[in-house]
Amino acid sequence: MSTAAHTTKSPRQLYNIAKTLGIWDPAKIDLTEDKAHWQMLNPDQREQLIKTCALFYEGEVSVSDTLAWFMLAVPDLDRRMFLSTQIFEEVKHAEFFERYFQEVCGKVDTSAYLVPEYKGVLLDELRQRGETIGQALTSGNGDLPLALTLFACHYMAVVEGTMALTGYEFFEDLLAKTGMFPRLLEGIKLIRADEGRHLVHGMDFLREQLIKYPDHVAPVRELFNTQAANIPRRTDFVFTPNPLGLDRERIQQISYENHNQRMREAGLE
Ligand SMILES: [Fe+2]
Ligand SMILES: [Fe+2]
Repeated sequence: MSTAAHTTKSPRQLYNIAKTLGIWDPAKIDLTEDKAHWQMLNPDQREQLIKTCALFYEGEVSVSDTLAWFMLAVPDLDRRMFLSTQIFEEVKHAEFFERYFQEVCGKVDTSAYLVPEYKGVLLDELRQRGETIGQALTSGNGDLPLALTLFACHYMAVVEGTMALTGYEFFEDLLAKTGMFPRLLEGIKLIRADEGRHLVHGMDFLREQLIKYPDHVAPVRELFNTQAANIPRRTDFVFTPNPLGLDRERIQQISYENHNQRMREAGLE
């Protein structure tokens, strides 16, 4: 296991940055331009865009709900301070998509897009990992350090560091190819800046845990491998069909690159 990777910013520094940069207001983004663009899409194109936004929305709601378990249980005060800003930011990310549906796409049943490939990793399994932390914390039984390690790997390395980071490329590609939906991309850029801090903090925590508890390496590696195997099916869901004509292969490639990068940051080669 490599320990070459180093911390770029401390939790306290990230907390201080969040106090300034994490306070943008989703309600203040003017969506007028995107509303006009929405009218120009055909029903199939709308469906593909809604599908991606729905998965983002459901993911943001789920991470907002589960992060409190992690924050309560992390021993370090500075980390808890930073995580309080992260919870606030995740809630705002969900708010951005909620508002985008209300003002641009119309009424959408986002849960209808939670096929098994996404529902497990984004909702059910993540909630379970949060509850495992809660049980270990409240009962005094169970392996709390391992529960924290696996939660960080699932939440920060997989959901934020692989799935969300890859999903942003979908919107970048959409705007680059069509010149449409600039306000959606504006929101995504603000979300992405917040997520950068979440990722730095989460991957540092994970790497430190693996150095401190070498027996966590095997279960973490297994989690990474299981999730890598799901990448093609997840990509298929978003790109089948593909009426917006975006580059499926490029996005899948980015997904694997993000996955490998997170493994390296965790200290696993
Ligand atoms: Fe988020
Ligand atoms: Fe996040």
